[in-house]
Amino acid sequence: MEKSRKRLVVLASGEGTNFQALIDAKGQYPGEITALVVDRECNAVKRAERHGIPVVKVLAKDCKDKREFNTRLLQELEKLRADYYLLAGFMRILPPEIVHRFPKRIVNIHPSLLPAFPGVDGVKDAYLYGVKYTGCTVHFVDEGVDTGPIIGQRVVEIVDGETLESLREKIHQKEHQLYVEVVKNLCSKRVVVNGRKVEFF
Ligand code: GAR
Repeated sequence: MEKSRKRLVVLASGEGTNFQALIDAKGQYPGEITALVVDRECNAVKRAERHGIPVVKVLAKDCKDKREFNTRLLQELEKLRADYYLLAGFMRILPPEIVHRFPKRIVNIHPSLLPAFPGVDGVKDAYLYGVKYTGCTVHFVDEGVDTGPIIGQRVVEIVDGETLESLREKIHQKEHQLYVEVVKNLCSKRVVVNGRKVEFF
């Protein structure tokens, strides 16, 4: 790999459509997905296998408790030596020891316009609240839940007659575009984080 190309590691727990979007956009950014890390058996693994991307499994079910899981996860992430660790539907809160080990190098995607509707189901929470606009956010990970500095956002309108499922689909589509765009910037530009403000030059 050329030295300037960024090493990207994706972490996922589920379907992996954001992971797939990043795979499909390869060639659009000077980086390479060098591994997929999962915490459970999931469809994202099949996507990695289809594209010859190495898979590292740190399975929660094989760990006696959270502490052991986090220790093993940290060890694997260190070994992978990524420039950026991209959470793409990785449904776990990273502990402070991992967040502090990779400052401004762990990125997450969340299906709402943060800081509104953080947590497990940002799409449903926004839908039930009755907001007219929601969307998706890519942000750096800090110690909180979906609280880190915001890198990029896309807006999605909730129209009359919208169902939760149609909204999920619209947000997913926007997420795929947004994550690719953010990864392009992370790989090719200088990122400056000043307090909560994230800018690319
Ligand atoms: C995405 O919508 C992502 O924003 C969400 O999980 C989904 C994963 O989809 N993540 C969170 O809610 C994190 N709090 P995917 O597996 O198809 O990429």
